[in-house]
Amino acid sequence: MHKRLGVLTGGGDAPGLNAVIRAVTRSALRQGWEAIGFLDGYAGLISNRTVGLTSNYISGLLHRGGTILGSNNRDNPFHFPVQTESGLKYKDMSDQAVANLDRNKVDCLIAIGGDGSLAIAHELGQKGARIIGVPKTIDNDLLATDQTFGFDTAVATATDALDKLHTTAESHHRVMVLELMGRHAGWIALASGIAGGADVILIPEIPWHLDSILAKIQQRRNEGKHFSIVVVAEGVPDPTGKSVYRREIPGAHHRFRLGGIGAIIAGLIEQATGIECRATVLGHLQRGGSPSAFDRILATRYGVMAAQLAMSGQHGLMVCLKGQEIEAVPIHLVARGTRPVPTEGQLVQTARALGLCLGD
Ligand code: F6P
Repeated sequence: MHKRLGVLTGGGDAPGLNAVIRAVTRSALRQGWEAIGFLDGYAGLISNRTVGLTSNYISGLLHRGGTILGSNNRDNPFHFPVQTESGLKYKDMSDQAVANLDRNKVDCLIAIGGDGSLAIAHELGQKGARIIGVPKTIDNDLLATDQTFGFDTAVATATDALDKLHTTAESHHRVMVLELMGRHAGWIALASGIAGGADVILIPEIPWHLDSILAKIQQRRNEGKHFSIVVVAEGVPDPTGKSVYRREIPGAHHRFRLGGIGAIIAGLIEQATGIECRATVLGHLQRGGSPSAFDRILATRYGVMAAQLAMSGQHGLMVCLKGQEIEAVPIHLVARGTRPVPTEGQLVQTARALGLCLGD
């Protein structure tokens, strides 16, 4: 009788998910284990939709973005949307999720996800499910790990966008505002802002004042630089201190979808300076595409370690990066909140040392 690993991908996708699936499956098959995937995150675990992960099935995956298993960021087994005669109701389907692991003879489930999916993994673990978590998100805001896979690729995509905005900003003597993802953390904005030579970087962790932004743009004009590049993280609040949302997703771990602050900031700058401003929202381009070499390696190392831990009988853990090493921590640590950019950290200090305006 073969032992078996299960795999699912939950939450918003991130470049490198397929590399983890491949690494887990390869590690399992080489040890004489089997691997199956649950489709569309926890939804597939509840509805028992599976696929056999064979050597052929996972072939050619390393460079592919997205997830071959499908994902979703709504279907929480503890609060699962069910269509009834009287409309949509939310039910606790967690017993069914745990039962389907047994039905499929899964010895350990590798749950690849962000804070929401891994918090669910922890809760299912408390009901007896054996689970190892793998930290994923382009936002890089998970506790208990120094980096998530997907972040490096998102930063590369944002940096490329900034390079492109530079040339058109310079030609037209404009201020170009780029709004980037990251939810309530400014990791993508700060890293790509530094890599892409932004003049102003606004992140949710540092309160901003319009005067500081205007002073930076004026300073550049005094130096003969008639264009400026402003990076704004989507989680930056508006002038009244409120987050700017574009939609609400009932039942999702993160219920509100951020978006729109870039256009607000561009409008304020244009009004105050008379300089033509344009706002670009990079959006889901940051989540798509082929993972960078760094993310392929990180995802592969995570997948191998997760499979090894699972096959040695361990569970209730999340693999993580500590410095240069892959380690494991109790999975409940990730459920305690999110990891903001440290405002006194080296990355912020580096930006300040370069004279970048961080809005304060
Ligand atoms: O967490 C990843 C992320 O891309 C965030 O940066 C962003 O706020 C959110 O997901 C977008 O979610 P959706 O794909 O549901 O629009």
